[in-house]
Amino acid sequence: MAEIYRRPELAAQMAKQLLHPGVLDEGLRSGLFLSGLRRTGKTTFLLNDLIPALEDAGALVIYVDLWSDTQTSPAALVLSAVKKTLADLQTPASSILQKLKRVGGADVGAFGFKFGFKLDSVGAEGGTTLAQALTEVVDQAKTDVVVIVDEVQHAITSEDGNQMLLALKSARDAINPRPDTPGHFIFIGTGSHRALVSELTARRNQAFTGATSVPYPVLNGDYVEHLLKRLAQEAAVPLPSAAVATHAFATLGNRPEEMLKALRQLRHIPPGGNPDEHLPVIAATLRSAAADIELMKVEQLGGLATAIFERIASTDGDARGVFSSEAAAEYTKAIGREVRVEDIQPVANDLLAANLIMRRGHGVYGVTDPFVQEIWREKKALGSKA
Ligand SMILES: Nc1ncnc2c1ncn2[C@@H]1O[C@H](COP(=O)(O)OP(=O)(O)OP(=O)(O)O)[C@@H](O)[C@H]1O
Ligand SMILES: [Mg+2]
Repeated sequence: MAEIYRRPELAAQMAKQLLHPGVLDEGLRSGLFLSGLRRTGKTTFLLNDLIPALEDAGALVIYVDLWSDTQTSPAALVLSAVKKTLADLQTPASSILQKLKRVGGADVGAFGFKFGFKLDSVGAEGGTTLAQALTEVVDQAKTDVVVIVDEVQHAITSEDGNQMLLALKSARDAINPRPDTPGHFIFIGTGSHRALVSELTARRNQAFTGATSVPYPVLNGDYVEHLLKRLAQEAAVPLPSAAVATHAFATLGNRPEEMLKALRQLRHIPPGGNPDEHLPVIAATLRSAAADIELMKVEQLGGLATAIFERIASTDGDARGVFSSEAAAEYTKAIGREVRVEDIQPVANDLLAANLIMRRGHGVYGVTDPFVQEIWREKKALGSKA
């Protein structure tokens, strides 16, 4: 059995909604944003399920992961993915062209696509805009072009990223409203930060206002049963029941890696022990252990870092005034020594550098990993009860 549990039906249904929306789903053409916690399989789902489903339905897919290379700006990453696709379309034997010929009605000559612009000029100042380039692609391919940006929330933290989103939006607005467009432009963004991703569609000054934002469909009991079947074949550990295992999976935030770790620990239960009794305990312990590592990093950065982190973690991801004199007074009280306003920035920078907090916009901060924030809150609640 394959290692990756696939969800072809779910993917095919999503592809259908995106490419051939019914009246109620037409809004999806304005853009679709999927958000889900870290390590829950978003990228795996895109690469193994959704992209193949979209391609099988005849669409041309351009995929960019903004986390693949944090040194390069989001705009440069998107641009280079688009250019690569354009180059492939001009290359007669490229697999992308073969696919288009196979599924679509694209009338592709023996020599590939011919564009009325130079590749190098795309996205350059005064050159061909993304909107112009993608319009030509839609017109020649006679099919839908789907641009998928994984971890899209990184784009809104910089000016250049925001420009890139606006450029994609104008591609959408150049292509879709034409009365007899031979295909549509569809944008899909995913992200680990729910509040941030929703904000992309909700705030009026964001490029994709009005687009649809939905939770990423996490793996569920079907995945767990698939995993248990594979384990049964190997007879490696005493097997828990499907119900208990599914519950443990939920405890672990529906994260496959954590689930495997938990199941591995079943090897160490005493002979004759009941896995159904042990697994919930293992899962509960692992759940906080993962977040503890992150919370330890905060502690190691010192008292002021902890106070700043707590101020940010106690909001719903939109902490403001982190550097205000009111905040300085709060930190002073929390750590019992005087904190001046100018002391705050360097320590906040340490937290940012360790990816524990993230800047979400001008003067707005949030905890990077919502799961860590959740565990922090649970601990806080326990602490205040004691
Ligand atoms: N359908 C699946 N079947 C088996 N394993 C999976 C599946 N989906 C994800 N995984 C495993 O879970 C881990 C996380 O997957 P993935 O990187 O796709 O998640 P993600 O949500 O994109 O994470 P990140 O937040 O780091 O971007 C990987 O080790 C992956 O192999
Ligand atoms: Mg990912």
